[in-house]
Amino acid sequence: MRDSERIFTGKRILLVIGGGIAAYKSLELIRRLRERGAEVRAVMTAAAKQFITPLSVASLTGDVVYDDLFSLTAEATMGHIELSRDADLVVVAPATAGLLAKMAQGLADDLASTLLLATDKRVLVAPAMNLRMWLHPATRRNLALIEADGVRRVGPDDGAMACGEFGPGRMAEPPDIVAAVAAALDAGTLVPLPPEIAALANGRLESGKSLAGLRVVVTSGPTREPLDPVRYLANRSSGRQGHAIAEAAAAAGAEVVLVSGPVDVPDPPGTALVHVETAREMLRAVEAALPADVFVAAAAVADWRPVVQATEKLKKSAGATTIIEVEENPDILASVGRRTHARPRLVVGFAAETGNVIPFATAKLGTKGCDMVVANDVSPATGTMGGTSNQVHIVTRGGVESWPRMSKADVARRLVGLFAATLRGGPRGGGA
Ligand code: C5P
Repeated sequence: MRDSERIFTGKRILLVIGGGIAAYKSLELIRRLRERGAEVRAVMTAAAKQFITPLSVASLTGDVVYDDLFSLTAEATMGHIELSRDADLVVVAPATAGLLAKMAQGLADDLASTLLLATDKRVLVAPAMNLRMWLHPATRRNLALIEADGVRRVGPDDGAMACGEFGPGRMAEPPDIVAAVAAALDAGTLVPLPPEIAALANGRLESGKSLAGLRVVVTSGPTREPLDPVRYLANRSSGRQGHAIAEAAAAAGAEVVLVSGPVDVPDPPGTALVHVETAREMLRAVEAALPADVFVAAAAVADWRPVVQATEKLKKSAGATTIIEVEENPDILASVGRRTHARPRLVVGFAAETGNVIPFATAKLGTKGCDMVVANDVSPATGTMGGTSNQVHIVTRGGVESWPRMSKADVARRLVGLFAATLRGGPRGGGA
C-alpha cells in the first residue's frame, strides 16, 4: 500500500448519493474506497433510487442503505444525527443542482439533506448536472455559498453528457474523487463547535457522546471451570462482541467496567477491565461493579462446573469410562435482572442459540428479568462464534427487530445507540 493510501484505513465515509445519471459511477467509487480500507455507509435520495438500486449499493458497501428520515427502526439504532456524525467525512456524489441548492439554503426535508445540516464533519461534493444547470446563476450562487461555508468540491469535468450536450457538468471520475477524499481526510474533517457553545455544552454535545455521565457494566468472553490444575470446562466464545460493546460504550462517553473471562482479543481502550476465570468470580466482580445504569451480559458463562476440583492432575485408568459430576453455576444475568434494589435501569442479555432463536430469546426476558435480549444463531455454519461478524435480533417486550449481518463493531455501535435511545425514553421498572 502506498503511503498516500494509508489515510483510508479504517476511515468511515458517509456517501450521499443524489439522483443523477452519474450515480452509476458512485458504485465504482464505493468499491475503490473500500479497496483502500475505508468503510462506506450510503444514503440514497428518492431520486437516486430511480438511477441505481439500493441492492447494488448495499452489496458494495456491505451495509444497509439509509434512505428514510422517519424510519423508527433506523432512528432508534442509527438516527440521522448519529449517522451524520459517525463518519469521518461526508461525500455527496453525485451532488445534483437540487442537493447543492438545499445545502446552500439549509433545507432539511429528507434524510440526505437533514444529515448534511446535522453533521459535524467536513463535506466534499462531486457535482453532476446538465451544463445549463451548472452555468445557471442560481447554481453559481449556491456553490459560492456552500464553498464559503467550508464545503470542498471535486469537479465537475468538461465532456459529453448523457443529455447529448457537451460542456462542464460531468461528475468527476471515481479516481479523482478518491484523491479528493484523501486530501479532505488529510486536512482534518471535524468541524468544531464555536468555542463559546462548546464550553456551554460542557462536552455533552461532543460527537456521539450519547452515554455521557452513565455507568455501564459489561461481561464478556467465556468462563473456565477447573476440573483439576490443568484441565477445565469452557466454550468457544472469543469475547469479540462483548469487548466491542464495552469499547463502543466508552467511546459514547460512558464509564465502563468490563468483566472478562480469558480471551485473546486486545483490551478495549477507555474501560476498567476486571479479569476473571470462573462464573463465580465473574458474579463477584459484577456485584462489586454495581450500581450501574446499564448491565450487558455478553459473556458465554459456563452453565455448569465440576463438583470436585481435584488439586492433583486426574489420572486415566486404562479402558474405564469416567463420569464427571457437574453442578449448576450461578446465573449472573438473572441475579442482576431480578434485583429489587439497585437494579440497573437497563439490563441486557444475550441468547446464543442453534435453533428456535427468537422463542428462546423471548422466554429469557421473563426467566432472567431483563429488558432486552440480543439473540443470535451460533450454529457452526454461521461462523458467528469466534468470528468477526454477527446477525442479531433485538427482542424486547415491545417486539422483535432483526438487524442485517454486520461487523461485531457495528453491532456494538448500534446497540449503544439503542441503549441511549431506550434510556432517553425514561426509566424502566424491575424485571419480570
Ligand atoms: O440461559 P443462557 O445461558 O442461554 O442465557 C444467556 C445469557 O445469560 C447471556 O446474556 C449470558 O451472559 C447470561 N448468563 C449469565 N450467567 C450464566 C449463564 C448465562 O449471566 N450462568
